[in-house]
Amino acid sequence: MEYDHEITICLGSSCFARGNKQVVELVKKFVAEYGLNAKVFLHGGLCGGLCEDGPIVKIDENIYKGVTSETVMQCLSEYFQVNQ
Ligand code: FES
Repeated sequence: MEYDHEITICLGSSCFARGNKQVVELVKKFVAEYGLNAKVFLHGGLCGGLCEDGPIVKIDENIYKGVTSETVMQCLSEYFQVNQ
């Protein structure tokens, strides 16, 4: 299946413990809410060595650092151009 976008949420122990556990649920909800399931390949990723700058979320080629539950929604809204 071809997707238009890819979202990778780092699930390495550092990012996971520092907030990505919650971020996964928020991103899943966002994707479902805006009917993006068929367009977005959402998956977890392994530690990419950026732990110090984490939690890390990648949307296509863009790496978002220090992501929180609040900022991830902002990043998603801007990237996918939807109004929250
Ligand atoms: S645990 Fe996410 S970059 Fe290392």
